[in-house]
Amino acid sequence: MNVGRRTIYCGEVRSADIGSSVVVCGWVHTRRDHGGVVFVDLRDHTGLVQVVFKPEVSRESHRAADALRNEYVIGVHGQVAHREQGNVNPKLPTGEVEVLADRLEILNASLAPLYDWDDEVEERLRLKHRYFDLRRPAMQRNLRTRAQAARIVRDYLHARGFVEVETPVLTRSTPEGARDYLVPARVSPGCFYALPQSPQLFKQMLMVGGLDRYYQIVKCFRDEDLRGNRQPEFTQVDIEMSFVDREDIFELVDGLFARLFGELLGVDVPQPVARMPYRQAMDEYGSDAPDLRFGLKLVQLSDLVAGGQFQVFAQAVASGGEVKAIRVPAGASLSRKELDDLTEFVRIYGAKGMAWVKKQSDGWQSPIAKFFSSEQQAALEARLGLEAGDLVVFCADSAQVVADALGNLRREIARRTGMIDDAQFRFVWVTDFPLFEYDSEAERLASVHHPFTSPVPEDLEAYEAGDPLKIRSRAYDIVLNGVELGGGSIRIHTQELQARIFKLLGLPEADSRERFGFLLDALRHGAPPHGGIALGFDRIVMFLVGTSSIRDVIAFPKTQKAADLMVDAPAPVDEQQLRELGIRTRRS
Ligand code: AMO
Ligand code: AMP
Repeated sequence: MNVGRRTIYCGEVRSADIGSSVVVCGWVHTRRDHGGVVFVDLRDHTGLVQVVFKPEVSRESHRAADALRNEYVIGVHGQVAHREQGNVNPKLPTGEVEVLADRLEILNASLAPLYDWDDEVEERLRLKHRYFDLRRPAMQRNLRTRAQAARIVRDYLHARGFVEVETPVLTRSTPEGARDYLVPARVSPGCFYALPQSPQLFKQMLMVGGLDRYYQIVKCFRDEDLRGNRQPEFTQVDIEMSFVDREDIFELVDGLFARLFGELLGVDVPQPVARMPYRQAMDEYGSDAPDLRFGLKLVQLSDLVAGGQFQVFAQAVASGGEVKAIRVPAGASLSRKELDDLTEFVRIYGAKGMAWVKKQSDGWQSPIAKFFSSEQQAALEARLGLEAGDLVVFCADSAQVVADALGNLRREIARRTGMIDDAQFRFVWVTDFPLFEYDSEAERLASVHHPFTSPVPEDLEAYEAGDPLKIRSRAYDIVLNGVELGGGSIRIHTQELQARIFKLLGLPEADSRERFGFLLDALRHGAPPHGGIALGFDRIVMFLVGTSSIRDVIAFPKTQKAADLMVDAPAPVDEQQLRELGIRTRRS
């Protein structure tokens, strides 16, 4: 560059530099012409510095500065000076100084800025012009925090003897429950690779291979519905260890979160992190990812309302369902409109209605009060711990709908009534998940976690023949503020047990051989006991930067429709390419 090499970042020029010559480079943030003197706020990723072009310092630069427009890329040589009285800006770290330009080099012109960063712009525009959006200070901060988090993860695991190993991206289907992304194999016509939904089986093979402690910060690919904090390609901190039980995993991960949240946010993560069995989470919070920042627990009322006069409740219990409720302290102040809104809200989760009671000093105010005698009201009040001024909301339905509706309702009420303290970080391990769930479409058992998860041995013996849905697994999730940050398990490490589980899953032996033959073989060639976890790295970074959008922590994210709007992917390909792959597309 004609101005010489950069000597200092814009945001780092200070009073101590006054009198020295500097070269600063960056983007023109704003340009103002004040009666012959041109002021430019020059920006790079560290911040802004004021550059001043005066004819008496350099006639040539002053003239050239006329051409500058926002987002032009420039280099400036000049002397650092104290800002004139009245021009000092205490809000900027560089607010006491300015650079008196004696040389200006326009490194590149720029079209007019696509939008103003401070405006709420449509996200499509941000994603289409991501290169521009990334200059936004918030995006800079997010990506830099993400990089710091990755460094902390690597340091932490490296110090504990973990080996970083890369696993294949072109592989075959891994059962994590989503659809696969497929890649056609040109040299084997009609055959496809699958992109990994996780490195699950490779990391298990690494344990059989004697690596002992493995980790990888790894891209995973899942073709699934992209709700809130999901992306079709996302990043896991993937971990596996040999000769461990779940306590070793908990201790390791508790310490990792303490480091991440301590170093990057100054937040203390209590050690050890609290634990809660899956059953309790479902019963009290209606979710396997409970948000513990507020109360509003679900209360079981089925026994009290069974056979009663209110038919909606009595029938739900009679047909094998449940009636549960949430007490909202001081909730009696909610208006009729607010209650109607909440009733609409629970319908999203399949609830047929939402009964409510306001406890006033003179008794119940409720559309269903008439169905309950004063003794019954007293029994309900005692169970709920009801006080004057409280609100109770009820849901009667199948256990599943009740959990889903009330689990979501408690979060919605907490959000609407301002009960959630954003400064709180409530971690919890959810343990003792069931091993199987019933897949009514396929009419067979399916794994809740994945088919390589070890069952609780006593449960397997007790329920294998009778009621396999009662078998608990040795799986666990780590949850923060109601968000699942990671999940893992102690694995099956003997061929006999793995074959038994495949059988319970209704996988014919020939199929399990075909798909997982290498696993079954490896388990017979000296597989050590092992277990691990995968943490959703994008979700962790969301907490570290405080955003509710996963797209804010990924440099080039995809839309809800799994599209990259900048490069315009996915895109059609040439007929020739398809022919080479032996593929004909069918548009039905
Ligand atoms: P699991 O499927 O629970 O476990 O995934 C682990 C964690 O990855 C994150 N995650 C996602 N993040 C963003 N977008 C997605 N589409 C997405 N899907 C999952 C979540 C989740 O908790 N192989 C096992 C781990 C193991 O058993 O060790 C696995 O992948 O935060
Ligand atoms: P109804 O008898 O249908 O007028 O309902 C009386 C009250 O019960 C209304 O507040 C409904 O919203 C509520 N309700 C209806 N179905 C259910 C249900 N399955 N669970 C809880 N409350 C319900």
